[in-house]
Amino acid sequence: MNQSILIVEDEKILRISLADALKSEGYTVYAVENGEAALQALEDGDFSLVLTDIRLPGASGMDILKKSLKEQPATPVIMMTAYGSINDAVEAMRYGAFDYITKPFDLDEILETAKKALDIEAITQENIRLKQEIRRYYGAPNIIGESKAMQSVFALLEKVSRTDSTVLILGESGTGKEMVASTIHFQSPRKDKPIIRVNCAALPENLIESELFGYEKGAFSGAAGRKPGRFDLADGGTIFLDEIGDLPLLTQTKILRVLEERSFERLGATTTVTVDVRIIAATNKDLEKEVKKGTFREDLYYRLNVIPVLLPPLRRRKEDIALLVHSFTRRFNDQMGTSASFTPEAVETLTSYSFPGNVRELLNVIERCVALNTDNLIRPADLPAHITKDKKAKTVLASLHDITSEAEKDHIISILRLTKGNRTQAAEILGVSRKTLWEKINLHKIDL
Ligand SMILES: Nc1ncnc2c1ncn2[C@@H]1O[C@H](COP(=O)(O)OP(=O)(O)OP(=O)(O)O)[C@@H](O)[C@H]1O
Ligand SMILES: [Mg+2]
Repeated sequence: MNQSILIVEDEKILRISLADALKSEGYTVYAVENGEAALQALEDGDFSLVLTDIRLPGASGMDILKKSLKEQPATPVIMMTAYGSINDAVEAMRYGAFDYITKPFDLDEILETAKKALDIEAITQENIRLKQEIRRYYGAPNIIGESKAMQSVFALLEKVSRTDSTVLILGESGTGKEMVASTIHFQSPRKDKPIIRVNCAALPENLIESELFGYEKGAFSGAAGRKPGRFDLADGGTIFLDEIGDLPLLTQTKILRVLEERSFERLGATTTVTVDVRIIAATNKDLEKEVKKGTFREDLYYRLNVIPVLLPPLRRRKEDIALLVHSFTRRFNDQMGTSASFTPEAVETLTSYSFPGNVRELLNVIERCVALNTDNLIRPADLPAHITKDKKAKTVLASLHDITSEAEKDHIISILRLTKGNRTQAAEILGVSRKTLWEKINLHKIDL
């Protein structure tokens, strides 16, 4: 990575030797001799490090520090101070300077401090980049849906995100429950704190407590050190209890207490830990049914079910299918360096499929089609057989219905001709009531 450094120093010899030393280390250096030029440079450019004298013509080192923190908060600023202005340096530190160095200094000393600052700056930048990437990946703009059903889900999510209320996300497998949980978190004031996912279905029963609440050194044989639990890790952020319907009854009791008191005991500890976490839970089970069966605690159900978010299955929002197809195709094209697209007929075939695995199933189908594609066009014949078969079966069924209906119409017409339009007689011959015959005549728009 090419890191650039701004040097602000009015003593010419010092400025030049400092610039030369940093340039020979491979950094890009921009050196100015007064305060105005420095403020302008900060206005115009991005620097990875600022090295500034405290006493300067034009503007003080303090002004430059403030400007830098405003323009580029993650960039460290090192103050260079003459003996006698230590107080200024201390004030600058308090204000947010990275470090200060007293003149006269030798070049090695300042190079070392600069490198330390630049290393930290690089890590900070990487961190910012990763956070942005995570947000791009999980954030709201990625949930796709134009259907009325999804629009009302989005409206609810926006409201819910602003609160700290417990949310219960319900929906069939693959409808986007995990995505919704992330969206709520990343739209909430807790977004800069972690969201910690707990897959309640995959935790071995005997480890659930140590996973959730952590343990102290020596809590059990093999507990060599202290280990924080998921609730500790989520402090200040959100805990996402995924597949909550699969939680064993015993652990349900323990979770209930955390939900009620936001506190718990670590295994082997004598003190109680209190955490500040927002709870989001999700399941594809019908919890009300589980409560009736006695496999899910009723009190826990009510605790969780403060704000339910219901994700409709994909077959109930077919309007979203084309949109999802295009968006996923673009994503896989980007990933695989291809430029495949679905023909309108293929999109139509997908739209008439029932997608028992919901959006995840659609995503997998599209990945597979894009990966196997050879001539940039994906036609109905390129879709997995079970999807095209489903469509054909429906076509046959539909035409059978049409056939029966046509036959019924023809038959009624011929009987009505036979009775010369006498409906009472026709109804008798057909073995239906007069009312039914009247309805059929209207249905088939029979006009004799
Ligand atoms: N509306 C949507 N827009 C874009 N992508 C979606 C949407 N809904 C789901 N997905 C994608 O589909 C996949 C499945 O979603 P997710 O894992 O959130 O579902 P889930 O409801 O948690 O499923 P399961 O019950 O199987 O755990 C993910 O890759 C997700 O990114
Ligand atoms: Mg899930």
